[in-house]
Amino acid sequence: MLYSEDLIEEVRIRNDIVGVVSGYVHLERQGRRMVGLCPFHGEKTPSFSVDAAKQVFYCFGCQKGGNVFHFVMGIENLEFPEALRQLADRANITLPEPEDNGERELSRQKKEISALNREAARFFYASLAGPGGLAAQQYLSRRGLQEKTLRAFGLGYAPDSWDALCRHLQAKGASAALLDAAGLASSGPHGPIDRFRNRVMFPIFDIRGNIVGFGGRVMDASNPKYMNSPDTPLYNKSRELYAMNFARLSHSKRIVVVEGYMDVISLHQAGIDTAVASLGTAFTQQQAWILKKYAEEVVIAYDADSAGQNATLRCMDILEASGCSVRILQIPDGKDPDEYIRNHGDERFRNLLDHALSLLEFRLLVQKRAHPGQEVEDRVHLLNKMADVLASHGNAIEREMTMSNISGEYKVSMDALKTEVDKRLRKNGRDAPPARLSTNSLRMRPVSEGPARNRYDEAELILLCLLGNENRLFEEISLRLPLERYRGTVSRVVAEKLYERLQVRREASIAELVNDLPPDAASAVIHMAETRGTVDNADKAIQDLLRRLERIALEDEKQWILDNIRSESDGNRRRELGVDLNRVIARMSALQSANDG
Ligand code: GTP
Ligand code: MN
Repeated sequence: MLYSEDLIEEVRIRNDIVGVVSGYVHLERQGRRMVGLCPFHGEKTPSFSVDAAKQVFYCFGCQKGGNVFHFVMGIENLEFPEALRQLADRANITLPEPEDNGERELSRQKKEISALNREAARFFYASLAGPGGLAAQQYLSRRGLQEKTLRAFGLGYAPDSWDALCRHLQAKGASAALLDAAGLASSGPHGPIDRFRNRVMFPIFDIRGNIVGFGGRVMDASNPKYMNSPDTPLYNKSRELYAMNFARLSHSKRIVVVEGYMDVISLHQAGIDTAVASLGTAFTQQQAWILKKYAEEVVIAYDADSAGQNATLRCMDILEASGCSVRILQIPDGKDPDEYIRNHGDERFRNLLDHALSLLEFRLLVQKRAHPGQEVEDRVHLLNKMADVLASHGNAIEREMTMSNISGEYKVSMDALKTEVDKRLRKNGRDAPPARLSTNSLRMRPVSEGPARNRYDEAELILLCLLGNENRLFEEISLRLPLERYRGTVSRVVAEKLYERLQVRREASIAELVNDLPPDAASAVIHMAETRGTVDNADKAIQDLLRRLERIALEDEKQWILDNIRSESDGNRRRELGVDLNRVIARMSALQSANDG
């Protein structure tokens, strides 16, 4: 660990977990917990809970749990030191420079790549204005881009040369290794050569406005049409949204997601300054979290072709599961937003935006497109598909209003439609998990679903969680189960820590204990704490657990004896083992009758 336990604990305490989680998940109060849709697995009814008193989160669906560090690590895909730094920043705590060389090296490299990218962008920008950039300038103005747009987005031109950029950057002191790490060059026979040649260049900004990579487009019909920077220590495609640095500053909280660079730029030029792009790659959960944070509503405006429709379905599922309110903009006649604006102007596009479809409308439209047949049986098939869609839609009012439209359009009675939808609703209701969390239903889940470590971990962890929740049991538990008798892999680590804290400070919380546990071990602990850590009768629970631990130990011993008897050739030794076996079996049945009684 690079930092002292006290410093880590201070960072944890100064970041209220409810505040941090609320930045990503919409939480509602339910009893002593706050609940919402789990950001770690797709779901439609909330199983994700945050306990403000204990400062831990736990999902009853996917059983991920932990403290505020584990939450940030999971949601931002960070290692512990990075999560610590982020939360320290958030709480205005200054961390000392890390001692760790790997960590320091990485942050130094990120800074160098960032500076190099900035210099490269300047070079491309200057090349566009220079004599070699004439064709590129003409290309961009043919596409309707104004001077101020080029400047705002930092567009440029990569010269038609093998190494113009590399020579420029090397003259400024960049090493070949750095050019390579930044993804700006590849190695040629005589040193590094430029990755981007004779292309219009689009710098890719991260959300803070640093240039993290580039996209380059050819100016004719050749292939590949676009080339992008590879992932580098600074650039992770699945984490960035192009132009999010601008969109987050807009007054409007309606963010428009499009496919490409040119769509974004055209929309911004038309005054829609909340357009962002996932840049041709499949939309990711991480991108959804960013949108959730900044948008009140997300409008998906992908291309209207069939690839675009599939990408839309994927994107809307992720966004919906992340708790975003989503609508779908369908561009008429198979165009993309850029072409549409160029052909029809800003106003018409704004109009499309105001009339974007709801999720339900879009899902029904997808069915209509997939089943265009006009025969009676085609229509019956389509109506059944639409009933499926309706039944899986949560809002009853929207369902009802939509049904009445369908009934009019397809000339079927509202009754018939309702019957079909209700049938499906009842079936869904049976298969689906309970819509609301209730403490009882949670208790009933079998614990074996949890990430068990070894045979001892479960019972030992439950014991430790009881102890973490009720420190007054320390004397009793430490007497009955001293440290050296712990045999679980995870529980052993937790026990050492908990016992030490309780001896020294007399108090300890579960949230603090998991500080330096890796995420899956933390999940295992929180899983036990949340599902088994509170009981009505602690004394009885302790007795039960100790008996259970003893039984597991006896079972192991019995198995060991049986294995050895079989392979033992020495008669005396066999008899000894036989005596041991009888003792173990006798103790097991004594325990059994204590349990029954
Ligand atoms: P324009 O033709 O310039 O209007 O581009 P577009 O945005 O309409 O292109 P398209 O819809 O074909 O692609 C959307 C996005 O996917 C682009 O902005 C790029 O980010 C990405 N993309 C398109 N073609 C390629 C390619 O050949 N290679 C890579 N790596 N990405 C591409
Ligand atoms: Mn286009």
